Amino acid sequence: MSVVVTGCAGFIGAAVCARLLDAGERIIGIDEVNDSYDPSLKEWRLCRLQEKENFVFHRVDIAEKEALFSVLDEAKHEENISAVINLAARAGVRQSIERPEVYLKANITGCLHLLQWSCVNNVDKFIQASSSSVYGSQEEQPLREDAPTDRPLSHYAASKKASELLCHSFHHLYGTDIAVLRFFTVYGPAGRPDMSIFRFIRWITEGEDVIVYGDGEQSRDFTFVQDIADGVIKSMHVKGFEIINLGGDSPVKINRIIAMLESLLGRKCTIRRKESNPLDVRATWADISKARKMLGWEPNTHIEEGLRRTVDWYLENREWASRICLGD
Ligand code: UGA
Repeated sequence: MSVVVTGCAGFIGAAVCARLLDAGERIIGIDEVNDSYDPSLKEWRLCRLQEKENFVFHRVDIAEKEALFSVLDEAKHEENISAVINLAARAGVRQSIERPEVYLKANITGCLHLLQWSCVNNVDKFIQASSSSVYGSQEEQPLREDAPTDRPLSHYAASKKASELLCHSFHHLYGTDIAVLRFFTVYGPAGRPDMSIFRFIRWITEGEDVIVYGDGEQSRDFTFVQDIADGVIKSMHVKGFEIINLGGDSPVKINRIIAMLESLLGRKCTIRRKESNPLDVRATWADISKARKMLGWEPNTHIEEGLRRTVDWYLENREWASRICLGD
């Protein structure tokens, strides 16, 4: 039996693959290795996976149906596929205003193709990555899975909501077990360079100005990548159709994150403020009672510990990590 993981060169995908491989699973990893952010980081993650046993990699775009189906058909011919975990996505909230069509293609059409193939081929379990951004702006926090999600603030959030809806229609029509996981601002070693924590560590370490959108009082329920990987793997036991939050359950303001990083790195930074971004939500905080009850999941890594491990990774890899392109 094998597990298909899409987005295997991505931040969360690589962490999930590493954990499954270490647990003795066989993985068929799929990724187009696009330039949504600096591909050298994706290649770095991929190299680490390719050193492990039982990892087979295919460079293919999930939005290209023929190429995708041909890889999956061939894989299935060799051995059964027990689960498809879709972690491939265009994931930048703020960048999604520039080229919404690429977000729709990857996050909706790509998801559609994977659902079509998985449901028709009787794959037992399908896991779809979604996002806290589907909640939009909400006064009432923590956010429960049944809170309204029909007012997205970005095209990225809208595309993730659409993928959730497709998951439901496929579950209804084919009976496939589907877990939709809403991740809350995932961070950790080898994280995405377009996201706050990677950028802040880099800027503070290298003595550059730290760009903060707005007053820095916005908060995020930051979640450590290894905890997310654990939650994804636990969700492989979900039956029926479930939407489940995976969040740290401990929101932190951006200004506080910067202060904690200054103290970990032992240096002060200069903050350069930019206008707050209309695509950004003000606050996120996950209600994780469902994940606790249904998956027996707990976010075990506290933010201090998670930041320390992320800083350590940066310092160990500083020579090349300091050259990774951060994007706009
Ligand atoms: C993150 C991920 O990028 C999404 O893929 C994911 O779906 C989403 O979390 C989620 O929770 O589901 P975001 O919350 O925007 O999105 O994460 P960051 O890039 O870490 O930004 C957090 C906050 O820091 C935002 O308010 C942002 O405006 C701010 N920020 C970010 C800055 O002030 N400066 C920067 O250079 C980057």
